[in-house]
Amino acid sequence: MTGGSEGRGRRTLSFTSVSRPAAERSFVKILFVGDIFASPGRALLRAHLSELVARHQVDLVVVNGENAAGGFGITGALAEEMLALGADVVTTGNHVWDRKEIQDYLRSGTNAARVLRPANFPPTLPGQGLYQGVTRGGEPYAVLNLQGRVYMTPLDCPFRKADELLATLPATCRTIFVDFHAEATSEKQAMGWYLDGRVTAVIGTHTHVPTADERILPHGTAFQTDVGMTGAYAGIIGCRQDEVLSRFLTGVHTRLEPAEGDACLNGVLIEAQDGKAVSIARCRERSTVVGC
Ligand SMILES: [Fe+2]
Ligand SMILES: [Fe+2]
Repeated sequence: MTGGSEGRGRRTLSFTSVSRPAAERSFVKILFVGDIFASPGRALLRAHLSELVARHQVDLVVVNGENAAGGFGITGALAEEMLALGADVVTTGNHVWDRKEIQDYLRSGTNAARVLRPANFPPTLPGQGLYQGVTRGGEPYAVLNLQGRVYMTPLDCPFRKADELLATLPATCRTIFVDFHAEATSEKQAMGWYLDGRVTAVIGTHTHVPTADERILPHGTAFQTDVGMTGAYAGIIGCRQDEVLSRFLTGVHTRLEPAEGDACLNGVLIEAQDGKAVSIARCRERSTVVGC
């Protein structure tokens, strides 16, 4: 883990052990885990999530699961598995539709409300991009999943969609986490600044490479351009390097298989008070799981 808090004199808090008085219910620790990629990513989540939650006394766990099914998409069974492992909310991104069966799950699955797809996809598609819940400590929270448009499928404007959905939240919901699934660093940073002071955190996903720019923006929003993925870094953004190299060298798009070896979990830990971020720190766990 790295980092701490910065900006406008915020207190720096240790992630190692913070005991909270019962009355301090608006203090929330969020753990966000980046894109779970295929079986190595799922194995890492099984190996580390419960220990991370206990070690850091996490109140809210959000996991991006868009690559859980062999690197491409997610199924209802895999979403349920991630929820059973301790995720409170599963977010996704452009790959959410890769497995057709996820559409049925998003319509009527057991915990479908806690499995998000980017909110700015057309409303005719199943699922939602916003979830409201209550943390283990009793604090109301919301998770919003949006997708960028630069170098990606043209969708509804994610900025206006954020405005629209944030306006639906009650004033009591101060802890608001945003997974912004986008390709361009500029678009991600723009979203961070656009929502600064209105949400607790804007964390980027999709590029699968963690960025070293975690910080707290002036009005209290924690930001990181990309949290990185949870999977095998021996490959190229999660896939076998020989197959990806072949694509670059020949221009022929063949099927890609998940990589194996040198796997790690990438996440970010955020502490917030009254909905304002007070610290943000990257979190990385290397695999000790055979086969990863
Ligand atoms: Fe991804
Ligand atoms: Fe993606």
